[in-house]
Amino acid sequence: MRFSGLALIASAVVIGACGGGDKTPGTTDTAAKAASTTPAPTQAAGSTVPKMPATGKTWEVKMVGDGTNFKFEPANITIKVGDNVKWILISGGPHNVTFNPAEVPAAAKAQLLANMGENQMGEMMGPLFQNANDSYEVSFAGIPAGTYGFNCTPHLAMNMKGTVTVKP
Ligand code: CU
Repeated sequence: MRFSGLALIASAVVIGACGGGDKTPGTTDTAAKAASTTPAPTQAAGSTVPKMPATGKTWEVKMVGDGTNFKFEPANITIKVGDNVKWILISGGPHNVTFNPAEVPAAAKAQLLANMGENQMGEMMGPLFQNANDSYEVSFAGIPAGTYGFNCTPHLAMNMKGTVTVKP
C-alpha cells in the first residue's frame, strides 16, 4: 500500500512537470493560441461570457470628495435585474468602482466581469476617473439577485464604499 501510494505521487509529479514545461503540440499550443487572441470587443479580458446590455432604467451614483470625506451618493441603491448603474465623478478624484471578487457569488462572477467592460485595472476593478462628469456604467443584465458591495480603490481606507442590491 505504501509503495503504490508513493508511485501515484511520483507519476502525478511527472504529469505536472510535462503539463507545465513541455511545448508538445496539442493542448499546450491551443492554450497559447487562445491566450494571444485579442478578445472580442464586447467581452472583457478574463471573462467567459459576452457583455449583456442593460434593458431597464439607469441609476446614477455620484462620486464625491472634498479632500477629507469621500463617498458614493447614494451609497446604497436597490435596482432590478437588467438595470444600469452609472457612477459619475463630481469631485475629489481619482475615483473608481471596484467589486471584491472574493465577495461576489460564483454564479454572478463571469457576467459581472463581462459587464464591467474592457478597461478593468484588475479583476472587477474599474478604470480610474479624474475629471468632473467622467462616468462609468455597469449593466446588471444577467446578474443574479443579491447584494453587491463595491468600493473606490484610492479611497477604500477612507471608507468610500457602497452596495448595489439587485432584485429579481
Ligand atoms: Cu474615491
